[in-house]
Amino acid sequence: DWNSGNVIAEQVEKIRAQVGSARVICGLSGGVDSAVAAALVQRAVGEQLVCVFVDHGLLRKNEREQVETDYVAATGVRLVTVDAADTFLAALDGVSDPEQKRKIIGREFIRTFEQAAAALVAEAESSGEPVKFLVQGTLYPDVVESGGGTGTANIKSHHNVGGLPDDLEFELVEPLRTLFKDEVRAIGRELGLPEVIVGRQPFPGPGLGIRIVGSVTRERLEILRDADAIAREELTRAGLDGEIWQCPVVLLADVRSVGVQGDGRTYGHPIVLRPVSSEDAMTADWTRLPYDVLSRISNRITNEVRDVNRVVLDVTSKPPGTIEWE
Ligand code: XMP
Repeated sequence: DWNSGNVIAEQVEKIRAQVGSARVICGLSGGVDSAVAAALVQRAVGEQLVCVFVDHGLLRKNEREQVETDYVAATGVRLVTVDAADTFLAALDGVSDPEQKRKIIGREFIRTFEQAAAALVAEAESSGEPVKFLVQGTLYPDVVESGGGTGTANIKSHHNVGGLPDDLEFELVEPLRTLFKDEVRAIGRELGLPEVIVGRQPFPGPGLGIRIVGSVTRERLEILRDADAIAREELTRAGLDGEIWQCPVVLLADVRSVGVQGDGRTYGHPIVLRPVSSEDAMTADWTRLPYDVLSRISNRITNEVRDVNRVVLDVTSKPPGTIEWE
């Protein structure tokens, strides 16, 4: 019968057999899959693993610290954080089309990760043990969806970094290939990972970049980050995390409405709350949150976040609305 302790022991053996004494790289996203996959590899081969975390500047409040501080303390992984916010923001400058944003963020992400990987490969080569493996947090449903293939990842550099190989090829290490999400969470808990990571609700790769309707700026990101943190804090405090699949918080940056605060007229932006209940994100219903929780979130956001004078609730199911606004 299924037992997370057995799965861990089994996977640790398998990883050791596959990897030998070579070095291994893993990209961390802040999400549960990559966090658990990396923690298993760390258990198996310790210092042979180096994790790379790209801070694209589109993360939520405290997400970077959760990885850099809490996750590292819990696992002991060697972590390299790449501070790429300036590059991403420059690439996104003036772009408001959602698919265009996704393309740009995806492209910059690959570029940034490759550059970090290439530097680690060069460093490892000079120390004797080559980097041969790349960890991926592929789950069983991903395997089924993609037809079951496994193998290698070929990273071609599109950039000129002096002295680095043009072409990096890695064999994949995928310790979660036979597992479902709830099993991955159980293993993460057994491995002692922080609950904020193990229990995290889905969050899109492009991050807050696709939750600003309009172009992405540093200032708008700060506003959205603060509003999102308040909503998450209040939902958690009210004990509602289990009922909600996820709750995007969206800044309508291109919309302004009139408000009044103190004895002054304001002309600020609306924040949208999009709490949804779902089994698999293919369909969803809007979550009937208690009015007093909605009221607390609204009061706090309008009082504590600058330039926001209105909070609205999205009461659309999926279909016809998607979960995200972009
Ligand atoms: P939609 O908005 O299509 O979202 O109903 C369904 C699920 O997918 C997530 N999502 C994304 N995840 N990159 C991601 O990694 C994306 O570009 C992206 N767009 C949507 C969304 O958060 C929801 O869980």
